[in-house]
Amino acid sequence: MRPRLIAGNWKMHKTISEAKSFVRDFLTIFQPQQGIEVVMAPPFIALPAVHHALQSTPIQLAAQNLFGKDEGAFTGEISAPMLQDLGCTYVIIGHSERRQHFKETNELINQKIQAALGHGLQPIFCVGERLEEREAGRTESVISNQIIEGLREVSSEQMKTITIAYEPVWAIGTGRAATPDQAAEVHTHIRSTIAGKWGIAQDGLRILYGGSVTAENAGEFFQSSQINGALVGKACLNPESFARIASLAP
Ligand code: 13P
Repeated sequence: MRPRLIAGNWKMHKTISEAKSFVRDFLTIFQPQQGIEVVMAPPFIALPAVHHALQSTPIQLAAQNLFGKDEGAFTGEISAPMLQDLGCTYVIIGHSERRQHFKETNELINQKIQAALGHGLQPIFCVGERLEEREAGRTESVISNQIIEGLREVSSEQMKTITIAYEPVWAIGTGRAATPDQAAEVHTHIRSTIAGKWGIAQDGLRILYGGSVTAENAGEFFQSSQINGALVGKACLNPESFARIASLAP
C-alpha cells in the first residue's frame, strides 16, 4: 500500500512573498504523520522559495504543469528537467482547467506524462467527467478514455509511480463536492481499468479525490478504503484548513 497523499494545488494564487508567509504559518501548525505524504503545488515562480522553506521538512514539492519536451524553442514553457533541478518530486498533469482553458488534449497530456516519467517526476494525473457527461451516463467511458489515451505507452513499472486524481469537473470550485460514495464508485472503476490493462495489483494504485474538499468534509472521504488522499484547491490556500485536512488523513 502506498502512503496516503494530501496535495494542495494553489492554482494561480499567491505571490512569492505570500507563498513564503503561507509556508511559515503552515509549518507552525502542521504535524507530520507516518503514512501520510503532504505535497504543495505553488505557481512556477514560487517553487524555489517554497522549496527552500520546506527543505528540512517531509513536505514535497509539485509543479502544476510542464511542457512535454525537454528543451527547445518553446517560448514561455517549463520542462521536466527544469522542474527536477528545482527540487520538484511531483507534477500535476491533465487538470480539467488545463483541458478546458488551454485546450489540452489526451495526446498532449500523454506527452507531458512521458516527459515527467522520463525525468523521474511522479505525475499526479487528473481525470474527471463534466456534468453533462455524468448526466448522460458517460462517466465511466469518459474516464476510461482519459486513462487509456493519457497513459498510452506507460509501462507497468512506471504506472506504480503515478498517482491518479479523480476530480469531477462539476465539483471543482463549486462547493458541491461529490459524495464519498460517488467518488468511491468512480475510484473502483479507475482501479479495475488500470489493474486490467497494466496488470498491477489494485492496492498498488493510489487514487485521490479532488473537488470542493474542505476541512469539514475531508474526514468522510478518508473513511473510504477506495480514497487514498485528496487533491485540494481552495481549502489549501489557508494554512489552518490545509493542516487540518492533512491531519484527518490517517
Ligand atoms: P477546489 O478544491 O477549489 O474545488 O479545487 C479542486 C481542484 O481543482 C484541485 O486540483
